[in-house]
Order: sequence, then structure tokens, then C-alpha cells
Amino acid sequence: MARRKIIAGNWKMNKTPSEAKALVELLAPLVKDADAEVVYCVPAIDIVPVAEAIKGSNVQLGAENISDQDAGAFTGEISADMLLDAGVKYVIIGHSERRQYYKEDDAFLNRKVLKALEKGLTPILCCGETLEQREAGVTLDWIRLQIKSDLQGVTAEQAASMVIAYEPIWAIGTGKTATSDQAEEVCKAIRDTITDIYDSDTAEKIRIQYGGSMKPANCKELLAKPDIDGGLIGGAALKADFAEIVNYNK
Ligand code: 13P
Repeated sequence: MARRKIIAGNWKMNKTPSEAKALVELLAPLVKDADAEVVYCVPAIDIVPVAEAIKGSNVQLGAENISDQDAGAFTGEISADMLLDAGVKYVIIGHSERRQYYKEDDAFLNRKVLKALEKGLTPILCCGETLEQREAGVTLDWIRLQIKSDLQGVTAEQAASMVIAYEPIWAIGTGKTATSDQAEEVCKAIRDTITDIYDSDTAEKIRIQYGGSMKPANCKELLAKPDIDGGLIGGAALKADFAEIVNYNK
């Protein structure tokens, strides 16, 4: 069965609630006929207004972070139940910005993945190498290690429902995109790793995105690759360009 493409915007720390509403209104008519699944992953404070603004549309809601805990004395955190109650379906886990600036390590991210799955949220699990790692030739080993660590204790059925985003750190927000061959090589290695951990059936079902300076000019070539099932879009998700990516096949 063919995997449906999934194009997700990661808004990062952008858009106030009123700006978020305006962006959803701008994009709504532009993305409404997409064949791909469309997801907006938005800042916590925008979740409720965006949920309201996308009601009845083809857009799904995502969060940018989740607590590994259920509830209680964890100041500043947001639980899976809070996200679910607000209508969230997807949650980004392990973005390189959280790994780098907030020191989230694989053991912690593994707990977040398990918590999201236990509660019925779909993780968009991010992985990616630095420029130094790519130049040292250790990219594939590094990615395999991240995936294996972050998926500890995840069942095959749960893994099949997930999304993995390959985001080379050197391509994020830099304007430098991985070539479609570079991106495909790593996305295929991720799928092969899923076969190693689970089986080929699980690997055929899991969806793997590319992220890192994806834009209208390069998305078609990237999305044509056999192991690239979508995109995780940063800068271009904040404007009408996002709709062009979503409609890459039109
Ligand atoms: P850019 O598209 O701005 O490079 O960001 C990619 C990204 O980090 C998405 O999560």
C-alpha cells in the first residue's frame, strides 16, 4: 500500500495567537485540495486558537513538544492529555533545536516518544547530523544510533504509525538543502534501520520526512524520492510558500 505523503509545518517560536489565526486563514483556501496530509505544528499558546481556526478543514494539528510525565508539579510543561483535549494529533519530538539548546538527550526523548504513543498521539521523531559528522563520514551510524535509542520499547505496531523526520542540522534555517540524493540515502538508511529493529512490513508503513530549507523550488525533487514521504518545513511554513509545497504534485 502506498504511503500517503505528510507535509508538516514546524512554526517554531513564531506567531502570536492572533498572528496564528491570520496565517491559518491565509493558508486555508490554498491547502484545501491537497492530496497530502497537511499538519501545522504550532507553539503551545497557539494550539487552542489554531484548533478552532482549522475546524472542519483538511488540516491536522501538531504540537512542538510534550512532557514525558502525566501531570503534576512540572512547571512550564504540557502533558499529552492537555494536547489531546485541545485536538492535537501529532507531536514533534527530538528536534535538533531542543537537543542542542535544551540538552534533551536520547533517554529523555525515548520517554517522550513512549508517553506520546501510550496516550495516542503520533510522534514526529526528528534525527539529523551536524556538518562535522557529515564531513567525518559518520552520518549513517549516527542516525541509526539516534533511531535505535529513541525507539527503545516501542512496539512494531506503534512504530508503523509514527513519522520520522530526517533533518540535517547544517540544512536547518541555513538555506542549504541536502541534495535529493543525500536526503534519500539517509531516509533509506532510516527505513532499513526500522527493518533491522522490527520487520519490513513496519518499515514499509512508517513515514519518513525530510526537513531543512525545503521550499517550493526544491520540494518536487525531494518528494519524488522513494523513501521521502513528506517534509517538515520551518521558514517556508510561515507564508504562502507552504501551500505550494503541500500542492507539489499539482
Ligand atoms: P527550515 O525549513 O527553516 O530550514 O527548518 C527546518 C526545520 O527545522 C523544521 O523542523
